[in-house]
Parts: sequence; structure tokens; C-alpha cells
Amino acid sequence: MHLPDFKEARTRDKRKYNRIDFKIDDSIEKKYLGKKYYVKTYGCQMNEHDTENICALLEALGFSLVYDYNDADLVLLNTCSIRENAHNKAFGMLGRLKHLKSQKKDLLIGLCGCMAQEAKVVDEILNDYKFVNFVFGTHNIYQLPEIIDKAVDTNKQQIEVYSREGDLVEGLPVVRANNYKAYVNIIYGCDKFCTYCIVPYTRGRERSRKKEDILKEVRELVDEGYREVTLLGQNVNAYGKDLYDDYNMGDLLEDVANLGIPRIRFMTSHPWDFTDKMIEVIAKYPNIMPSVHLPVQSGSNRILKLMGRRYTRESYMDLFHKIKDTIPNVAISTDIIVGFPGENEKDFLETLSLVEECKFDNAFTFIFSQREGTPACKLEDNTSLEEKEKRLYKLNEVVNKYFLENNKCLEGKIVKVLVEGVSDKKNMYFGYSDTNKLINFTSDKDIYCGDIVDVEITSAKTWSLDGRIK
Ligand code: 5AD
Ligand code: SF4
Repeated sequence: MHLPDFKEARTRDKRKYNRIDFKIDDSIEKKYLGKKYYVKTYGCQMNEHDTENICALLEALGFSLVYDYNDADLVLLNTCSIRENAHNKAFGMLGRLKHLKSQKKDLLIGLCGCMAQEAKVVDEILNDYKFVNFVFGTHNIYQLPEIIDKAVDTNKQQIEVYSREGDLVEGLPVVRANNYKAYVNIIYGCDKFCTYCIVPYTRGRERSRKKEDILKEVRELVDEGYREVTLLGQNVNAYGKDLYDDYNMGDLLEDVANLGIPRIRFMTSHPWDFTDKMIEVIAKYPNIMPSVHLPVQSGSNRILKLMGRRYTRESYMDLFHKIKDTIPNVAISTDIIVGFPGENEKDFLETLSLVEECKFDNAFTFIFSQREGTPACKLEDNTSLEEKEKRLYKLNEVVNKYFLENNKCLEGKIVKVLVEGVSDKKNMYFGYSDTNKLINFTSDKDIYCGDIVDVEITSAKTWSLDGRIK
């Protein structure tokens, strides 16, 4: 049994990590043939992609996927700790599973993901959720087959959570959720330690995958007919810093672009590491989508400092304009937190004025949520929840105004759309534009999922656009 510990999770040292190749133990391969599993995923794309590996590991054990947890022999929750509501949702689901288990004694229940990295959560599971059969951390995914097998064999709760990242595992099997768009991890962890954020504790230090392994994976995706790849990391811009002296995210983007996959995206970027080389490469290669997610968090320098964001409003704006001026038709999206401890009306108005200046194409807006173990959790917070909700409401009004305004500029224009599906209505399709906008469109021609087609935009809404095929 390995229990999580935030003190250990916080340590960053120069330890070398080993690269190991995953291989499932022959003795347990397909051992659970005929059994069914259900996975519920909370949180970010990183978690969604982990679930794609988890599904493949379960299928290697012989489990097959079901979409209703009532039909499953094994239910796994892949959890998120980023805000309290994600945490509460997972515990709510555990409550429902307790009820199910009272009727189905052999049901296996597991919890993994970021919440598994929190000592308090694991304590609670050890003491009050004894019906949970196993817990494993974000660094222990590759051990899942053995953990399940041990939980079944011993009928004892298994907790396997490393707080310090272990080896970097290559060759994990994967069952991709989409046939045209694929996630590829390029860097794990985060070393930025923004004061509000739990991720550096739950995902460990920054560890880049070797460029050869990434390029091989993308090459295979091209051969399999994938049309879009999203390079994933908590902070992709730090790619390569821990591995190479002279190879970074700009170089990787260029090498991936040269493999010829029609669409490349990447997420998430911290403004601190966004280099000129990256901007040049994105502008140069038409298959790197002109869509940049650039979290700003606040427009107030005082709050940015308290958040430990390492940039000022002015330096963010310089970068913003450099990206806008260099990459044709680029769309920039962002994340914003309101109600950070100590944020006053003046700070909030500065956030609003930054939004007025940037006119973001998309924005994810949040109320600050206290995360135990993070520095911001100890800061004095005098603002009422009611006031924070008012600020969020106001902020959303302003960001929404610009989503619509930006979308309106596309009316009458032709955009390229990767077709993802057919709507219920006849001849209606949907997909995403190069700037990642949802497009619903009609077509009287036969088109197929995975096609990239020209669509003329006929009408703009706040969160989507309507069009017809050209
Ligand atoms: N409270 C509210 N929002 C948070 N985020 C990260 N940590 C917190 C927190 N404690 C937001 C940030 C980040 C996004 C993924 O989630 O805006 O960019
Ligand atoms: Fe949530 Fe962050 Fe973990 Fe993703 S990495 S699941 S956003 S806490």
C-alpha cells in the first residue's frame, strides 16, 4: 500500500526518471473476460486521455465497456481536484455506488485521478468508504491490472498512490474515444506552482516525453487516418526543458507539422513560456490550427502577483498582441478566476477592462475555490460568496458579448470544418472550425465524418455558428 503525501508531492529534484516499456503480465491477460466495466471521467483533457489508457488496460484484462453503471461489474471514477464542485460530484457518485453495491455484492469500485493524490480523500475512503475496492494515483495507472487482480484475490482495499512521480511509461495501450481526433501527451506535470492550483501536487514535476516517442505516435496516427492531433500537457510550452538543451515546443510543433497530419492543436499554454519561435512556427504551418488557449486568470497586477503567475498585465498584453499580429486569423481563448482572496472591486474592474481589450474568442470563467495544501488556501478572504457570484455573472456577460461579436465577423465567410457527426435533423452535420468553433451546417452532398469541408457561415450565435456546405 502507498498513501499520498503532499509534502513529498511538492519536492522537485534533479532525479533522473527511467523510461520503461509497458507490458501486461501474461498470467492476468484476459483473465476477466466476460466482465463489464464503466468509467466516469471528471476534469480536463489530460484525464480524458488517461481514461483512454485505462479503458485499454481494462480491456487487456478482458473487461468490455458498458455505458450504464448499473450493468457494470467494475465501476471506476477518474476524478478531478481542481475545484470543490468536481470533488463533490465524485463523492456524490460514490454515494450512489454504495447503494448499488448493497444490491450487487461483487461489484468492484475504484477511484483514480487527481483526487486519489490527496491524503484527505484517501483517508476518507479508508475510513468511511470501505466499499471502495481500490484507489490508484495519477503516477500508478500502468499498475492498474495488478491492482485490480490483487483487490479481487485478497478482497482487501488496495491503495496505490505514489506522490513522487516514478518512471515515465511508454507503450501503454490506448482505446481512443474518437476516430478522427487524438490526444497525444507530450509533457506530464507542472512546475509553475500558481498559488491557487493543486495540479503541481497531483501531477508531479514537469517530465517531457522523448521527441522520438511523440513523433512515432503521431506518425502512427497519420497512418491510421487520424485527421487531428492535440498535443497535451499541463503546460506544453515547457516541453523539452527537462530533456534537451536546444529542442523546445517550437521545434516539436515544427516536427509534428512536417508529419503531414491535417490539424494540430496543443493545450495548455502558460504565457510565461510562450516563445517567439512557437509563434513563428504556428504562423508558418497551415496545419497548426490558429487557435491559442492563453489563460490570463486576472487583469490586476496585484492579484497576478498573489497568484504567482510570473507575468504582468502589460507583459500578457504584449504577448497577446504579438500572437494576434503574427498569426493570421488567430482565435485566442482564456481562463479567468474571480474572487481570488483579497480581490477587490478595483481588481475585478481591471479584469473586466482586460477582457474588453482582448475580446477573447472563448473564455472559461471560475469562482476561486480553496484547495487544501495550496498557498492561496491560507490567504485571508473577506469577499462574500454572493459578491463573487455577482462578479462571475458580470464577467460572463462581458465575455459572452465578445464571443457573439467575434462570431458575427464570420457571417458570410467560408471556414474549414472537420466533420464530426450528423445531427438528428436531416442533412444537418456538425464539426469544429480551424479556430475551434462549433459549426452546425447543412449539406446536400454526401459527406463523411473525418472529412474537412468548406462551410459558408450563415448565422452566428454566442456559442456556435450555423452554415451551409460550399
Ligand atoms: N479555483 C478556481 N479555478 C481554478 N483553476 C485552477 N485552480 C483553481 C482554483 N483553485 C482554473 C484556472 C485554470 C483552469 C484549468 O482552472 O483558471 O487555468
Ligand atoms: Fe482536474 Fe487538474 Fe487533475 Fe485535470 S490535472 S483532472 S484539471 S486537477
